[in-house]
Amino acid sequence: MHDFRSDTVTLPTPEMRAAIAAARLGDAARGDDPTVAELERLACAMTGKDDALFVPSGTMANLAALIAHGCRGGEVIVEETAHIYNSEGGGLSVLAGAVPRPVKGKRGILASTDVEQAIRDGGDLAQAPTRLICLENTHNAAGGTVTTPATMAAIHAVARRAGIAVHLDGARLFNAAAFVDVPIGELCRHVDSLWFALCKGLGGPVGAILAGDAAFMLKARRAARMLGGGMRQAGLIAAPAIVALQDPYPGHRRDNALARRLAEGLTALSPALMDGDVQTNIVNCFIDDAPAITRALGERHVLALAKGRRIRFVTHAQVDETSIDAAIAALADVLAMHSRRSAHA
Ligand SMILES: Cc1ncc(COP(=O)(O)O)c(C=O)c1O
Repeated sequence: MHDFRSDTVTLPTPEMRAAIAAARLGDAARGDDPTVAELERLACAMTGKDDALFVPSGTMANLAALIAHGCRGGEVIVEETAHIYNSEGGGLSVLAGAVPRPVKGKRGILASTDVEQAIRDGGDLAQAPTRLICLENTHNAAGGTVTTPATMAAIHAVARRAGIAVHLDGARLFNAAAFVDVPIGELCRHVDSLWFALCKGLGGPVGAILAGDAAFMLKARRAARMLGGGMRQAGLIAAPAIVALQDPYPGHRRDNALARRLAEGLTALSPALMDGDVQTNIVNCFIDDAPAITRALGERHVLALAKGRRIRFVTHAQVDETSIDAAIAALADVLAMHSRRSAHA
């Protein structure tokens, strides 16, 4: 099987399994697990933030951040197709008490001028005041698009003028960093809090890192604990993440390049399949009958995800050039079969 459904399908490498076996352990919720402490120190250094916390999932990282930023009763500006707004069960409102304020981005990327216009300063007593601006880099639903450091800086400047914090959903932050060719610290500079996934492009088995300044993180640590994020011998899952963080950029550059190669192949089949350039490791292709076509791809050992007219392919450490060629050949075959059927209908 060539599995392009998500970069979450990767399995730990032999080196990661060896690190799991050798991990020094303790009760992480009591601050006693040396491996978790090492991972959090490493994440601090990479993000340039005061403190970092190992949490079980990105959804929990987002929720803890919303709670720690005091969003209850206020508005949170989100891009209208953002994961935090569309794909986290409404936790933003249900658990953090925030009112989402969706703003349309260009291929998922918010413009600082649109963000500025959406801010509510609390002067009108009928309106919930803006408490937080959420960015997503890369943007999942938009097809792995990247918000550049310059755009992030412009949005941060708008937020600062309004006295509002900026939070970054950086599930695939390393893919963004590989695309703009900067270390992740450059993408963390322009936000007050952020998280990145350890179990997507990095290939670790479980978890995410939430980071921010000391005052924010004190509240975030409390919120994560309240949400059930206190883990015990979590060094078992922190150890492979430490392995993954040793030299993360070449792997993410490779994943981005594989996705571009897939996009080129799909464009060659039919330019109408594609909607804009592919920047990182997600390739969205648009076609009628996407669910039926995705099922037919599966019969040819190529797994992808269908949603509406969209078929999503995600590259990661466990697909390679052979997988890309297999995906292009399978789609060519399925499209040819479909057009023969349409001609006979
Ligand atoms: C952009 C984005 N944000 C948040 C999440 C949620 O992360 P998790 O599955 O670790 O809760 C995902 C998961 O795919 C994602 O792609």
